[in-house]
Parts: sequence; structure tokens; C-alpha cells
Amino acid sequence: MKRNIMITGGAGFIGSHVVRLFVNKYPDYHIVNVDKLTYAGNLANLRDVESAPNYTFIKADICDFDGICRIMQEHDIDGIIHLAAESHVDRSIKDPFTFAKTNVLGTLSLLQAARLAWEDGGWKKGDVGCRFYHISTDEVYGALELSEPEGVEPPFTTKASSGKHHLAYGRDFFREDTKYNPHSPYSASKASSDHFVRAFHDTYGMPVIVTNCSNNYGPYQFPEKLIPLFINNIRHGKPLPVYGKGENVRDWLYVEDHARAIDLIFHKGKTAETYNIGGFNEWKNIDIVKVLIRTVDRLIGNPEGTGDSLITYVEDRKGHDMRYAIDSSRLQRELGWEPSLQFEEGIEKTVRWYLDHQDWLDNVTSGDYQEYYEKMYHRG
Ligand code: NAD
Ligand code: DAU
Repeated sequence: MKRNIMITGGAGFIGSHVVRLFVNKYPDYHIVNVDKLTYAGNLANLRDVESAPNYTFIKADICDFDGICRIMQEHDIDGIIHLAAESHVDRSIKDPFTFAKTNVLGTLSLLQAARLAWEDGGWKKGDVGCRFYHISTDEVYGALELSEPEGVEPPFTTKASSGKHHLAYGRDFFREDTKYNPHSPYSASKASSDHFVRAFHDTYGMPVIVTNCSNNYGPYQFPEKLIPLFINNIRHGKPLPVYGKGENVRDWLYVEDHARAIDLIFHKGKTAETYNIGGFNEWKNIDIVKVLIRTVDRLIGNPEGTGDSLITYVEDRKGHDMRYAIDSSRLQRELGWEPSLQFEEGIEKTVRWYLDHQDWLDNVTSGDYQEYYEKMYHRG
């Protein structure tokens, strides 16, 4: 089947994994990666697919409604996977306006442009993947408490509605019908964009789908986020700034498992529905930090415990959500998706990747990759 799929934010962390998966797996699809290349966007994430015949990169801002309409027309776009966003909570606390602009207005501009393309009849009703697929986050649901059954120290083994046992730090989970309750400017902007997406279905009948995923980790994540930042700091003997007491809990998923879920849901998910995506893999921040220290020290040949002295407790993040825990049973039950990697295996792979790609880390932190873009796309 021939399809022209626009993927926004494809030069970012998760987007680059989704672009790579689609370009390689679907030679009949034309994948149009639309990305503004903010500090978080990096074409070096896609070197291995940049010359593929079914791939086009376009530098564009999703807030530029006319520009996006033109791209949709020129490339006859008939399906969208929307990942472009400002994604870092700490930045949203310092600069909420940029988050409202990109995440709310940018999504709205993309929705309007998509509506025109869809109403023009370019999107065949019922065709697989002719839809606006919006990638969202578990942070829109707010925060869960740490809780424990009487007499049992967390993490304790619990049973999700999928019937599987896993470790958890509380009894409650975010489900698809959990009420939105965002706390940070980032999560408020993502919640708002989710509402706009659903409103376009309820008002205009547009075929949309929304997924809410937990924390991703893996290669190509910008080193301002916990895992790549700490790997890099441990390697260079720099302090590891742990917010508060390090007791906050996140549910971690290997990024390629998220990309696989996106592929499955884009093709087989029910229109106008929501699916939660998560790893059933809860960890306290401080425990992740200890795993990272042990792994990096072992791989670079430091005596065990060398990195422990780098742990530095710093002032807590403002409004820091205590616990996120996604229940992704629906996705497992209805579409048969499961995370493929155990966390220990995923962390080992991830640490090895960053240690082997110091040049990538240096480039993204120095801004040199912008020169790469200029050379690639503005020759002469
Ligand atoms: P990222 O910050 O690594 O990448 C974002 C990408 O969007 C970059 O390539 C950037 O250049 C691009 N972009 C930003 N503003 C743009 C604009 N105005 N126009 C066009 N492109 C623009 O983000 P990520 O971590 O890969 O997250 C991707 C999506 O997944 C986001 O919507 C995020 O909310 C969501 N999400 C992320 C996680 C996670 O753990 N990282 C978890 C759940 C959901
Ligand atoms: O839950 C999904 C979300 O996960 C995504 O929607 C966001 O785009 C993504 O950035 C991520 O948000 P978090 O705030 O959970 O990720 P971050 O890596 O920034 O932080 C993870 C935890 O580690 C969090 O509790 C804050 C803490 N932390 C983070 C940093 C950067 C520290 O203690 N020190 C740090 O230096």
C-alpha cells in the first residue's frame, strides 16, 4: 500500500526511532520528517536512513500554518504521527510560554492543516493509518502517591489488570480513563494539546488517536534528561544532581519498544481511542542512579563504588510529581503489545551506546550538529 506519512519531531529522541522503524519496515511508504531542529533536534540521529529513497526531511515549524499546509499538499500527506514538542519539564518551569506556543498552538496549527487535507478527501475513509496520531505523556494524569500494603516494604509485587505480576510503589495506576490533573507547565501544555486533538474528532469527526506513554530511555536522548545526563557525568567524574531525596518514582520503557507500540497503534488502534503505553517497570530515581554508577564504573574499568561520591542531593524540582505508574494492560490485551526488554538489559545497552558515542554527546552539547545541517541542506 502506498502511503505518505508525515512524522513531526522526527529528528528528536523518540521521533528518530519512529522514523527509522517506518523507513526500514515500510518501503512503500514515503516518510516525510518535519522538524524545526530546535536544540533537541539532530539530523545526526538519522544518518543511517537519510539517503533512503522513501525518506524526506523538511525543516519547518509546526506553528507555521501556511508552511505546514503547503507541505501537506506537496507531499499528498494522508497520515500524521505527531511527536514535535518541547519535552523537558525543567525548561518548562523556566520558560512556560515556549511550551504553550509549540505544544498547544503548534498542535492546533497542525490539526487545522490536517483537517483541510482530510476534508479535501485525500485521506481515504477506513484506510489503515489515515489518521492524526498524537503522541502524549503519562504526566497529564498528574501524580500518584507512594503507598504500601500493610507490613510490606515497597516496591511490592502487584498484579496489573493484564494478570501479570510486577514491582510497584503504590496501589494506583494511570488508566485510560484517569482524570487529567497536570502540574507542570510541560504537562499542562501536553494536556491542552490532547484536548484539542480529541475536540477535532468530536467536533469535525477527524480520525484521531492519542497515546500516553511513560518515561523513555535509550540511544539519542538529549543529555539534559536523567539517564543520558548522569551517564555522561559519571564518565567524566562530574556531580550527579539528584533532586530532593531521589525518592520520586518513574515507570521506564526502552525507546524502541515505544516505537513498536506506535507502529502497532498507528495501523491497528481504534480511531478516537486512547492507549496507555508503559513498561510496568517502576524505579526510584536514586536506585536508577546507583544502577547507572555500577554499570558505567564496570564498563570503563573503575573500581566498584568509584562513582558513589558523585551523588549530590540538590534542591527539589518545583512541583515535582512523586510517582508515575502507567497501566498499559489495554494495549497488551487488545493489540498484543509487550515491552521486549528487561530493564537491566535495556540499561546495559543504553550505557554501552552512550559510552561508544561520546562524539554524539559532545556534538549535541556543543551545537556543532547545527553546522552539519547547514552543510547538508544549504550547500551553496
Ligand atoms: P525531544 O525533545 O527529544 O524531540 C522533540 C523534537 O521536536 C525535536 O527534534 C525538535 O526539533 C522538534 N520540535 C520542537 N519544536 C518544534 C516545532 N515548533 N516545529 C517542528 N519541530 C519541533 O522529545 P522526545 O523526548 O523525543 O519526545 C517526543 C514526543 O513524545 C513529545 O511529544 C513528548 O511530549 C512525548 N513523550 C516523551 C516521552 C519521553 O520520555 N521522552 C515520554 C512520553 C511522551
Ligand atoms: O513521563 C514521561 C515524561 O518523561 C515525558 O513526557 C517527558 O518528555 C520526559 O522528559 C520525561 O519527564 P521527566 O521529568 O520524568 O524526565 P527527566 O529525565 O527530566 O527526570 C526523571 C526524574 O529524575 C524526575 O523525577 C526528575 C529527576 N531528575 C532529573 C534530572 C534531569 C533528577 O533528580 N536530576 C536531574 O538532573
